[in-house]
Amino acid sequence: MARRKNIRKEEFGQLPNCFNKTAEWKGKWRTYFENDHPIILELGCGKAELSYTLAKQNPEINYIGIDLKPDRLWHPSKQALEEGVSNIALLCINLLDLADHFAENEVDGIWITFPDPFPKNRQAKHRMINPAFLKGYQNVLKPGGLVQYKTDNLSLFHYSLETFVKTENIRFKYLTFDLHEALEISENTKIETTYEKKFREMGVKINYVSFVFIPQ
Ligand SMILES: C[S@@+](CC[C@H](N)C(=O)[O-])C[C@H]1O[C@@H](n2cnc3c(N)ncnc32)[C@H](O)[C@@H]1O
Repeated sequence: MARRKNIRKEEFGQLPNCFNKTAEWKGKWRTYFENDHPIILELGCGKAELSYTLAKQNPEINYIGIDLKPDRLWHPSKQALEEGVSNIALLCINLLDLADHFAENEVDGIWITFPDPFPKNRQAKHRMINPAFLKGYQNVLKPGGLVQYKTDNLSLFHYSLETFVKTENIRFKYLTFDLHEALEISENTKIETTYEKKFREMGVKINYVSFVFIPQ
């Protein structure tokens, strides 16, 4: 198992739709994709099932899945290469370094899917929705760009909502504590990630919120 992980880590560096710390496409992602289509990021994407499905459904939108773990990103990378899906790229970085990889306003929308809860107070600095991370997201997102966030973890969701409210320049668009029962929301938001499948099989409800940053 560890050996397979290491092989995938090594292979990741060679795959043409995978990128890491070199930041070669900052401000030029549309040149990489060879079009001027919108760019949507999935943050902490793991195996990027959401982005991959959306990329196949929406060839006129570019998707970039971002995660710390190259062996997870290896999966969608291989699948995209095998199936000829060219509007998805995978980026292996820490989200705190987002500004090194994207120019201001370069991104049209953001998905945050099932972040690690880091439940202890002393771990709060690692939560992908804490103020330091949010600042980085706002910096790369163009005005009016939608942020969509889903999680199974109700305590994390409460913490997130409190953080978003304190952020002040956030305007909420939609909120539900049971995404898959919400009739009025687009089916795209219900495409399941790896973690979402796992938690739904256990009968856990999925929390979802979307918002935009208001320019200050
Ligand atoms: C619980 S998993 C969820 C994976 C996927 N979004 C899903 O729903 O199946 C959280 C993911 O976030 C990634 N992650 C956590 N902190 C990160 C950070 N600071 N930068 C980039 N990725 C991070 C982890 O490596 C992990 O793959």
